[in-house]
Amino acid sequence: MKVKKIILGLILINRLLATAQNPILIPDTIMGTNVDLTLQYGTHQFYSGINTNTMGVNGDVLGPTLILNQGDFVNFTVKNNLTDTTTIHWHGMHISGENDGGPHTFITPGTTWNPSFKIMDKASTYWYHPHLHRKTNTHVSKGISGFIIVKDDEEADLDLPRTYGVDDFPLVIQTKDFNTAKEIVVPSNTDDVAMVNATIDGTLEVPAQVVRLRLLNGSSMRVFNVGLEGNKTFYQIGSDGGLLEAPISLTRLQLAPGERAEILIDFASMNGQSLVLKSYASEFQNGIYGASFPGMNANMTLDNYNPNSLNGSDFNLMTFNVVVPTSSPVTAIPNYLVTVTPLSENSSDITRTLVMQPKQMGMNQLNGLFTINNVSFNLDVINYYIPLGNTEIWSIRNQSAIAHPFHIHDVQFYLLDRNGNTPAPSEQGRKDVILIKPQETVRFITKFDDFPSNIPYMYHCHMLIHEDGGMMGQFIVDTTLKINKKSEDGVLVYPNPTTDKFTITSIRNIKDVTVVNALGQMVAQEKELNYFAVTFDTKNWGKGIYFVELIYANDVKGKGGMKRRKDKNNKKRRKIIVQ
Ligand code: C2O
Ligand code: CU
Ligand code: CU
Repeated sequence: MKVKKIILGLILINRLLATAQNPILIPDTIMGTNVDLTLQYGTHQFYSGINTNTMGVNGDVLGPTLILNQGDFVNFTVKNNLTDTTTIHWHGMHISGENDGGPHTFITPGTTWNPSFKIMDKASTYWYHPHLHRKTNTHVSKGISGFIIVKDDEEADLDLPRTYGVDDFPLVIQTKDFNTAKEIVVPSNTDDVAMVNATIDGTLEVPAQVVRLRLLNGSSMRVFNVGLEGNKTFYQIGSDGGLLEAPISLTRLQLAPGERAEILIDFASMNGQSLVLKSYASEFQNGIYGASFPGMNANMTLDNYNPNSLNGSDFNLMTFNVVVPTSSPVTAIPNYLVTVTPLSENSSDITRTLVMQPKQMGMNQLNGLFTINNVSFNLDVINYYIPLGNTEIWSIRNQSAIAHPFHIHDVQFYLLDRNGNTPAPSEQGRKDVILIKPQETVRFITKFDDFPSNIPYMYHCHMLIHEDGGMMGQFIVDTTLKINKKSEDGVLVYPNPTTDKFTITSIRNIKDVTVVNALGQMVAQEKELNYFAVTFDTKNWGKGIYFVELIYANDVKGKGGMKRRKDKNNKKRRKIIVQ
């Protein structure tokens, strides 16, 4: 009897603690055309009174929200004050490979990276996060990630809430694993602590009117099934890369790692009340990270996944406390938003087929690595060369027992179908991440415009353990690939013949390139490149035959850092005609 009373008392105290006012962190903003970011270590109190070691941007955890205008040319300074090399990737944005911040674009400790680019994206919610191969999970889970809000004229014309921190809030939903010392454990399949904006059991004061939330799943692994207490309706107005045609009324919204969604909630009649934002993970079928069992077959186990109170059950993410409305509130959910013009299926130049599979099939597959088309990521291998301007259908089949969120850089895509079925309305907008369930084939269409580049773009699973484990590939977009075929040894010189310039690409990193004329005289040379591709201007060379000699880089990035490649066959020679 006594024990029961104590337990009841503890439950009560717990409930009180859980409902304590714990305002969620709202990141500062940076606006304009100069963005200064510093990556740094810090500490953050996820648990009151306990300092947890974190990584953050311009602060202890997370990063400032960048508010950028379409059409602006923005200069960035990214200073790395960590003792670890990392990169910063602008997830979802249409920018060149050089600016994209993928795994090739290192920022070594103590150095600064200065990308600069024009904002070409549509108004939506994007994000930035580290992307160093094998380190992405550590750097993201320790706290580095920030929002990017892009504004444009089309969005400005709509009667939508857009006052940051007043009726427009970014919410990054994450789960993490803390050890007994309350340090963040990475990697982990025991992520049993949910948080929004780095705040556990957080609260947010919202005015009694229509409020806009920009949701981001910033978790390393977990999928959420977002909904409101009491199944209150909310309205999705945007997907990853833009607004939808019209608000979609929903009671549930599935959000996989990397995905964003903008939603409206009408709090008008709720002044003085509270409402809980939840994940209804009990509704997940097995085969999703977040369900009772992560594999389709309940007998397939993932080490350390269970027991976990979040798996397959409904849990709270945060609480909205509704307060008095602002002086000029948005009071209605609009009927119409923007025109969405998906690419038509018959405009496609090519269909590429990708298969997601476990490295080792069988019942223990969830504990192993996953591959795309049976190969693991290799920094020195370009998996696809894509002609600039190509419209492509990517058909992706999940041949594994767990759902994977597929993400591609450079472009936004339009979903064509899931196993041949028309996608749900909430998936009919612009997307850059799509969750593909076991045994599902998802087809999307996209167009590779604007950025021929030497620095490859990535496509990968956005579950960070899978990504770091090699479930990633890379592609180069180039101008003249349409008229040239890739040669057998992976070295490509094009266009050939040429009039003004040519490019050499290789499946391995190129160290030195020397071009000599028919008399053996050197006309051009590039040394210590370490690129996959290099372009030469031939305008001043005169017409004739030239020979390109290429030496591969010997040092390749391997598992344990840099290692020496032993083959002697590291030279290639090609003929190029200038006419
Ligand atoms: Cu959000 Cu390649 O990443
Ligand atoms: Cu990305
Ligand atoms: Cu995956």
